[in-house]
Amino acid sequence: MTSLLPIRAAITGVHGYVPDYVLDNAELSRMVDTSDTWITERTGIKERRILKGEGLGTSHMAAEAVRGLMRKTGTKPADVDLLICATVTPDFVHPCTANLICDMVGIRNIGSFDVQAACSGFIYALAVARQFVAAGTCRKVIVVGADKMSSIVDYTDRATCVIFGDGAAAVLLEPSRDGTGIMDIILRSDGSGAKYLHQPAGGSRMPASAETVAKRLHSVYQEGAAVYKFAVAGMSEVTREIMARNNLRPDMIDWVVPHQANRRIIETTAEKLGLPMDKVMINIHKYGNTTAATIPLCLWDYEDKLKVGDRMLLAAFGGGFTWGGAYLTWAYDGAAAAGKGNGAGAV
Ligand code: UT7
Repeated sequence: MTSLLPIRAAITGVHGYVPDYVLDNAELSRMVDTSDTWITERTGIKERRILKGEGLGTSHMAAEAVRGLMRKTGTKPADVDLLICATVTPDFVHPCTANLICDMVGIRNIGSFDVQAACSGFIYALAVARQFVAAGTCRKVIVVGADKMSSIVDYTDRATCVIFGDGAAAVLLEPSRDGTGIMDIILRSDGSGAKYLHQPAGGSRMPASAETVAKRLHSVYQEGAAVYKFAVAGMSEVTREIMARNNLRPDMIDWVVPHQANRRIIETTAEKLGLPMDKVMINIHKYGNTTAATIPLCLWDYEDKLKVGDRMLLAAFGGGFTWGGAYLTWAYDGAAAAGKGNGAGAV
Protein backbone atom coordinates (compact mmCIF):
# COMPACT_ATOMS: atom_id res chain seq x y z
CA MET A 1 0.00 0.00 0.00
CA THR A 2 1.33 3.45 -0.85
CA SER A 3 2.29 5.56 2.18
CA LEU A 4 0.16 8.64 2.73
CA LEU A 5 3.01 10.42 4.47
CA PRO A 6 4.49 13.33 2.48
CA ILE A 7 7.84 12.93 0.72
CA ARG A 8 10.50 14.44 2.94
CA ALA A 9 14.20 14.91 2.34
CA ALA A 10 16.13 12.76 4.81
CA ILE A 11 19.81 12.65 5.62
CA THR A 12 20.87 9.11 4.73
CA GLY A 13 24.62 9.43 5.21
CA VAL A 14 27.31 11.73 6.55
CA HIS A 15 31.07 11.87 6.24
CA GLY A 16 33.70 14.39 7.21
CA TYR A 17 37.30 15.29 6.57
CA VAL A 18 39.68 17.34 8.67
CA PRO A 19 43.32 17.98 7.74
CA ASP A 20 46.08 16.22 9.71
CA TYR A 21 47.86 19.33 10.98
CA VAL A 22 46.82 20.19 14.54
CA LEU A 23 47.27 23.82 15.61
CA ASP A 24 46.90 23.67 19.38
CA ASN A 25 46.60 26.48 21.91
CA ALA A 26 50.24 26.12 22.90
CA GLU A 27 51.41 26.82 19.34
CA LEU A 28 48.99 29.77 19.02
CA SER A 29 50.38 31.18 22.27
CA ARG A 30 53.79 31.36 20.59
CA MET A 31 52.27 33.21 17.59
CA VAL A 32 50.15 35.87 19.40
CA ASP A 33 49.76 37.22 22.93
CA THR A 34 47.32 34.62 24.25
CA SER A 35 47.25 31.52 26.43
CA ASP A 36 45.68 28.08 26.64
CA THR A 37 43.78 29.24 29.73
CA TRP A 38 42.26 32.30 28.00
CA ILE A 39 41.26 30.38 24.88
CA THR A 40 39.83 27.43 26.80
CA GLU A 41 37.86 29.55 29.28
CA ARG A 42 36.54 32.05 26.71
CA THR A 43 35.83 29.68 23.81
CA GLY A 44 36.16 26.00 24.82
CA ILE A 45 38.65 25.42 21.98
CA LYS A 46 41.79 23.32 22.62
CA GLU A 47 42.95 22.76 19.04
CA ARG A 48 41.95 23.24 15.42
CA ARG A 49 43.02 21.63 12.12
CA ILE A 50 44.88 23.53 9.41
CA LEU A 51 45.11 22.54 5.74
CA LYS A 52 48.74 22.74 4.68
CA GLY A 53 50.04 22.11 1.19
CA GLU A 54 50.68 24.19 -1.90
CA GLY A 55 47.61 24.70 -4.08
CA LEU A 56 45.15 22.95 -1.76
CA GLY A 57 41.90 24.84 -1.25
CA THR A 58 38.51 24.19 0.28
CA SER A 59 37.63 21.83 -2.60
CA HIS A 60 40.37 19.42 -1.49
CA MET A 61 38.75 18.87 1.92
CA ALA A 62 35.22 18.86 0.47
CA ALA A 63 36.16 16.27 -2.16
CA GLU A 64 37.66 14.03 0.55
CA ALA A 65 34.42 14.27 2.52
CA VAL A 66 32.26 13.59 -0.55
CA ARG A 67 34.41 10.60 -1.63
CA GLY A 68 34.05 9.11 1.86
CA LEU A 69 30.30 9.76 1.85
CA MET A 70 29.84 8.06 -1.53
CA ARG A 71 31.96 5.07 -0.42
CA LYS A 72 30.03 4.67 2.83
CA THR A 73 26.58 4.99 1.28
CA GLY A 74 27.37 2.97 -1.85
CA THR A 75 26.57 5.99 -4.02
CA LYS A 76 28.10 6.04 -7.51
CA PRO A 77 28.96 9.32 -9.25
CA ALA A 78 26.22 8.68 -11.82
CA ASP A 79 23.61 8.35 -9.04
CA VAL A 80 24.04 11.92 -7.78
CA ASP A 81 21.49 14.44 -9.11
CA LEU A 82 22.71 17.66 -7.49
CA LEU A 83 25.63 18.87 -5.35
CA ILE A 84 25.55 22.03 -3.24
CA CYS A 85 28.55 23.41 -1.39
CA ALA A 86 28.22 25.88 1.48
CA THR A 87 31.41 27.85 1.89
CA VAL A 88 32.75 31.31 2.61
CA THR A 89 36.24 30.37 1.43
CA PRO A 90 35.74 29.20 -2.19
CA ASP A 91 38.86 28.10 -4.09
CA PHE A 92 38.17 30.93 -6.55
CA VAL A 93 35.73 33.83 -6.73
CA HIS A 94 34.54 31.90 -9.79
CA PRO A 95 33.97 29.18 -10.79
CA CYS A 96 32.19 27.96 -7.71
CA THR A 97 33.67 25.27 -5.48
CA ALA A 98 30.80 22.81 -6.06
CA ASN A 99 31.78 22.59 -9.76
CA LEU A 100 35.38 21.74 -8.76
CA ILE A 101 34.29 19.13 -6.21
CA CYS A 102 32.14 17.32 -8.79
CA ASP A 103 35.08 17.19 -11.20
CA MET A 104 37.43 15.92 -8.48
CA VAL A 105 35.12 13.05 -7.45
CA GLY A 106 34.04 12.09 -10.98
CA ILE A 107 30.48 13.45 -10.91
CA ARG A 108 29.58 14.75 -14.39
CA ASN A 109 26.75 16.70 -15.98
CA ILE A 110 24.68 17.59 -12.95
CA GLY A 111 23.71 20.92 -11.43
CA SER A 112 26.17 22.10 -8.81
CA PHE A 113 26.51 25.44 -7.09
CA ASP A 114 27.71 27.19 -3.94
CA VAL A 115 25.62 28.77 -1.22
CA GLN A 116 27.21 31.58 0.80
CA ALA A 117 25.65 32.23 4.17
CA ALA A 118 28.82 32.12 6.27
CA CYS A 119 28.37 30.08 9.47
CA SER A 120 24.71 29.42 8.63
CA GLY A 121 25.71 28.11 5.20
CA PHE A 122 25.03 24.46 5.92
CA ILE A 123 21.45 25.12 7.09
CA TYR A 124 20.84 27.40 4.09
CA ALA A 125 22.19 24.75 1.68
CA LEU A 126 20.12 22.07 3.40
CA ALA A 127 17.02 24.25 2.95
CA VAL A 128 17.70 24.54 -0.79
CA ALA A 129 18.53 20.85 -1.25
CA ARG A 130 15.43 19.80 0.68
CA GLN A 131 13.16 21.53 -1.85
CA PHE A 132 14.62 19.57 -4.78
CA VAL A 133 14.12 16.25 -2.97
CA ALA A 134 10.67 16.97 -1.54
CA ALA A 135 9.46 18.23 -4.93
CA GLY A 136 10.55 14.94 -6.51
CA THR A 137 13.02 16.69 -8.85
CA CYS A 138 16.10 14.94 -7.40
CA ARG A 139 16.58 11.59 -5.67
CA LYS A 140 20.14 11.96 -4.39
CA VAL A 141 21.53 15.33 -3.40
CA ILE A 142 24.88 15.93 -1.72
CA VAL A 143 25.23 18.95 0.58
CA VAL A 144 28.74 19.75 1.71
CA GLY A 145 29.83 22.39 4.21
CA ALA A 146 33.51 23.23 3.84
CA ASP A 147 35.80 26.05 4.85
CA LYS A 148 39.51 26.70 4.84
CA MET A 149 39.28 29.50 7.38
CA SER A 150 43.08 29.59 7.72
CA SER A 151 43.14 31.21 4.26
CA ILE A 152 41.25 34.30 5.52
CA VAL A 153 42.42 34.52 9.14
CA ASP A 154 44.94 37.14 10.23
CA TYR A 155 47.36 35.24 12.48
CA THR A 156 48.46 38.51 14.10
CA ASP A 157 44.91 39.28 15.36
CA ARG A 158 44.55 37.35 18.61
CA ALA A 159 40.85 38.16 18.93
CA THR A 160 39.91 36.21 15.78
CA CYS A 161 42.71 33.78 14.95
CA VAL A 162 42.14 31.61 18.01
CA ILE A 163 38.59 30.61 17.09
CA PHE A 164 38.81 29.41 13.49
CA GLY A 165 39.89 26.11 11.91
CA ASP A 166 39.62 24.17 8.64
CA GLY A 167 37.36 21.23 7.82
CA ALA A 168 34.61 19.79 5.62
CA ALA A 169 31.70 17.39 5.93
CA ALA A 170 29.02 16.18 3.55
CA VAL A 171 25.56 14.65 3.85
CA LEU A 172 23.46 12.69 1.39
CA LEU A 173 19.79 13.65 1.11
CA GLU A 174 17.23 11.20 -0.28
CA PRO A 175 13.43 11.01 -0.35
CA SER A 176 11.81 9.48 2.72
CA ARG A 177 8.20 8.35 3.08
CA ASP A 178 8.43 6.79 6.54
CA GLY A 179 7.98 9.98 8.55
CA THR A 180 11.71 10.60 9.03
CA GLY A 181 13.61 13.48 7.47
CA ILE A 182 13.62 17.26 7.49
CA MET A 183 10.39 18.50 9.06
CA ASP A 184 10.98 22.25 9.14
CA ILE A 185 13.60 24.92 8.45
CA ILE A 186 13.70 28.62 9.31
CA LEU A 187 16.15 31.00 7.58
CA ARG A 188 16.85 34.55 8.73
CA SER A 189 19.19 37.37 7.68
CA ASP A 190 20.00 40.97 8.56
CA GLY A 191 22.51 42.73 6.31
CA SER A 192 22.91 45.59 8.77
CA GLY A 193 25.05 43.17 10.79
CA ALA A 194 27.72 43.10 8.06
CA LYS A 195 29.72 45.79 9.83
CA TYR A 196 30.42 43.48 12.77
CA LEU A 197 31.70 40.50 10.79
CA HIS A 198 33.02 40.62 7.25
CA GLN A 199 36.04 40.36 4.99
CA PRO A 200 36.69 43.95 3.86
CA ALA A 201 38.68 43.50 0.64
CA GLY A 202 38.70 41.21 -2.37
CA GLY A 203 35.10 41.81 -3.49
CA SER A 204 33.77 44.35 -5.98
CA ARG A 205 33.57 47.12 -3.38
CA MET A 206 37.26 46.98 -2.55
CA PRO A 207 39.19 44.92 -5.12
CA ALA A 208 42.60 43.56 -4.22
CA SER A 209 45.49 46.03 -4.36
CA ALA A 210 48.94 46.29 -2.80
CA GLU A 211 47.36 48.55 -0.17
CA THR A 212 44.57 46.09 0.77
CA VAL A 213 47.16 43.35 1.19
CA ALA A 214 49.49 45.55 3.26
CA LYS A 215 46.58 46.53 5.53
CA ARG A 216 45.51 42.87 5.95
CA LEU A 217 42.04 43.66 4.62
CA HIS A 218 41.62 40.22 3.05
CA SER A 219 41.14 38.66 6.47
CA VAL A 220 38.09 38.25 8.69
CA TYR A 221 37.14 41.41 10.57
CA GLN A 222 35.09 40.57 13.64
CA GLU A 223 33.79 42.59 16.57
CA GLY A 224 33.61 39.49 18.72
CA ALA A 225 31.66 40.75 21.72
CA ALA A 226 28.92 42.30 19.54
CA VAL A 227 28.64 39.16 17.39
CA TYR A 228 28.48 37.06 20.55
CA LYS A 229 25.35 38.89 21.78
CA PHE A 230 23.59 38.68 18.40
CA ALA A 231 24.53 34.98 18.13
CA VAL A 232 22.95 34.06 21.47
CA ALA A 233 19.82 36.07 20.64
CA GLY A 234 19.52 34.73 17.08
CA MET A 235 20.13 31.07 17.90
CA SER A 236 17.71 31.20 20.84
CA GLU A 237 15.01 32.97 18.83
CA VAL A 238 15.14 30.61 15.88
CA THR A 239 15.26 27.48 18.05
CA ARG A 240 12.37 28.67 20.21
CA GLU A 241 10.31 29.44 17.10
CA ILE A 242 10.96 26.10 15.43
CA MET A 243 10.10 24.27 18.67
CA ALA A 244 6.87 26.26 19.10
CA ARG A 245 5.60 25.77 15.59
CA ASN A 246 6.32 22.01 15.73
CA ASN A 247 4.86 21.58 19.24
CA LEU A 248 8.19 20.41 20.63
CA ARG A 249 8.97 20.51 24.34
CA PRO A 250 12.62 20.32 25.49
CA ASP A 251 12.11 16.75 26.77
CA MET A 252 11.07 15.64 23.25
CA ILE A 253 14.43 16.61 21.73
CA ASP A 254 17.12 13.92 21.47
CA TRP A 255 19.91 16.07 20.00
CA VAL A 256 20.74 19.72 19.52
CA VAL A 257 23.31 20.35 16.78
CA PRO A 258 24.54 23.92 17.18
CA HIS A 259 27.04 25.83 15.08
CA GLN A 260 30.35 25.62 16.96
CA ALA A 261 31.58 29.21 17.31
CA ASN A 262 32.11 29.45 21.03
CA ARG A 263 31.24 26.92 23.73
CA ARG A 264 29.79 29.72 25.89
CA ILE A 265 27.35 30.75 23.13
CA ILE A 266 26.18 27.13 22.91
CA GLU A 267 25.80 26.74 26.68
CA THR A 268 23.94 30.03 27.12
CA THR A 269 21.57 29.23 24.24
CA ALA A 270 20.87 25.72 25.59
CA GLU A 271 20.23 27.10 29.07
CA LYS A 272 17.81 29.76 27.78
CA LEU A 273 15.82 27.04 26.01
CA GLY A 274 15.88 24.52 28.85
CA LEU A 275 17.87 22.02 26.77
CA PRO A 276 20.36 19.99 28.85
CA MET A 277 23.98 19.95 27.67
CA ASP A 278 24.11 16.13 27.49
CA LYS A 279 21.82 16.40 24.46
CA VAL A 280 23.97 19.04 22.77
CA MET A 281 26.60 17.97 20.25
CA ILE A 282 29.97 19.57 20.94
CA ASN A 283 33.25 19.15 19.09
CA ILE A 284 34.53 22.72 19.19
CA HIS A 285 37.42 21.60 21.45
CA LYS A 286 38.83 19.53 18.55
CA TYR A 287 38.19 21.69 15.48
CA GLY A 288 37.36 25.26 16.55
CA ASN A 289 34.95 27.16 14.32
CA THR A 290 35.04 25.64 10.83
CA THR A 291 32.22 27.97 9.63
CA ALA A 292 29.99 26.03 7.16
CA ALA A 293 31.44 22.68 8.25
CA THR A 294 30.63 22.75 11.97
CA ILE A 295 27.15 21.20 11.90
CA PRO A 296 27.87 18.31 9.50
CA LEU A 297 31.18 17.65 11.33
CA CYS A 298 29.12 17.26 14.53
CA LEU A 299 26.78 14.81 12.77
CA TRP A 300 29.84 12.85 11.60
CA ASP A 301 31.42 12.78 15.05
CA TYR A 302 28.17 11.67 16.74
CA GLU A 303 26.93 9.40 13.93
CA ASP A 304 27.48 6.18 15.89
CA LYS A 305 25.10 7.43 18.62
CA LEU A 306 22.21 8.31 16.31
CA LYS A 307 19.09 6.16 16.11
CA VAL A 308 16.18 6.09 13.69
CA GLY A 309 13.55 8.58 14.81
CA ASP A 310 15.87 10.72 16.96
CA ARG A 311 14.47 14.25 17.03
CA MET A 312 17.13 16.82 16.24
CA LEU A 313 17.36 20.59 16.25
CA LEU A 314 20.04 22.34 14.17
CA ALA A 315 20.86 26.01 14.82
CA ALA A 316 23.44 28.41 13.45
CA PHE A 317 24.37 32.07 13.47
CA GLY A 318 27.02 33.85 11.46
CA GLY A 319 28.22 36.58 9.14
CA GLY A 320 25.61 38.47 7.18
CA PHE A 321 24.16 38.39 9.72
CA THR A 322 22.54 35.10 8.82
CA TRP A 323 20.93 32.60 11.13
CA GLY A 324 18.68 29.61 10.91
CA GLY A 325 17.28 26.51 12.49
CA ALA A 326 16.13 23.10 11.32
CA TYR A 327 14.05 20.33 12.86
CA LEU A 328 14.54 16.79 11.57
CA THR A 329 14.05 13.21 12.60
CA TRP A 330 17.00 10.93 11.99
CA ALA A 331 16.50 8.35 9.25
CA TYR A 332 19.06 5.57 9.73
CA ASP A 333 21.01 3.46 12.22
CA GLY A 334 24.09 5.62 12.82
CA ALA A 335 26.14 2.92 14.59
CA ALA A 336 25.87 0.52 11.64
CA ALA A 337 26.77 3.26 9.13
CA ALA A 338 29.64 4.68 11.19
CA GLY A 339 31.20 1.20 11.17
CA LYS A 340 31.44 1.37 7.37
CA GLY A 341 33.57 4.51 7.20
CA ASN A 342 36.63 5.80 8.96
CA GLY A 343 34.43 7.77 11.34
CA ALA A 344 35.79 10.50 13.53
CA GLY A 345 35.27 8.37 16.62
CA ALA A 346 34.55 9.46 20.14
CA VAL A 347 33.98 13.13 20.73
O1 UT7 B 1 30.99 31.91 13.84
C1 UT7 B 1 30.08 32.93 13.65
C2 UT7 B 1 30.21 34.16 14.32
N1 UT7 B 1 31.23 34.32 15.31
C3 UT7 B 1 30.96 34.14 16.61
O2 UT7 B 1 29.90 33.70 16.98
C4 UT7 B 1 32.03 34.58 17.59
C5 UT7 B 1 31.41 35.38 18.71
N2 UT7 B 1 32.37 36.00 19.60
C6 UT7 B 1 33.18 35.28 20.42
O3 UT7 B 1 33.19 34.08 20.42
C7 UT7 B 1 34.02 36.05 21.41
O4 UT7 B 1 33.61 37.40 21.37
C8 UT7 B 1 35.55 35.96 21.17
C9 UT7 B 1 36.04 34.57 21.49
C10 UT7 B 1 35.88 36.30 19.70
C11 UT7 B 1 36.24 36.95 22.08
O5 UT7 B 1 35.91 36.67 23.44
P1 UT7 B 1 35.33 37.81 24.41
O6 UT7 B 1 35.14 37.17 25.72
O7 UT7 B 1 34.12 38.41 23.75
O8 UT7 B 1 36.51 38.83 24.46
P2 UT7 B 1 36.53 40.37 24.07
O9 UT7 B 1 36.65 40.56 22.61
O10 UT7 B 1 35.39 41.09 24.77
O11 UT7 B 1 37.88 40.84 24.78
C12 UT7 B 1 38.04 40.77 26.21
C13 UT7 B 1 39.51 40.96 26.53
C14 UT7 B 1 40.13 42.16 25.83
O12 UT7 B 1 41.10 42.71 26.69
P3 UT7 B 1 40.78 44.02 27.56
O13 UT7 B 1 40.40 45.08 26.59
O14 UT7 B 1 39.66 43.62 28.48
O15 UT7 B 1 42.06 44.27 28.28
C15 UT7 B 1 40.82 41.55 24.64
O16 UT7 B 1 41.91 42.33 24.19
O17 UT7 B 1 40.24 39.82 26.09
C16 UT7 B 1 41.32 40.24 25.23
N3 UT7 B 1 41.53 39.21 24.24
C17 UT7 B 1 42.40 38.21 24.44
N4 UT7 B 1 43.24 37.92 25.46
C18 UT7 B 1 43.99 36.80 25.33
C19 UT7 B 1 40.92 39.05 23.03
N5 UT7 B 1 41.38 37.94 22.43
C20 UT7 B 1 42.31 37.42 23.27
C21 UT7 B 1 43.13 36.27 23.22
N6 UT7 B 1 43.95 36.01 24.26
N7 UT7 B 1 43.12 35.43 22.15
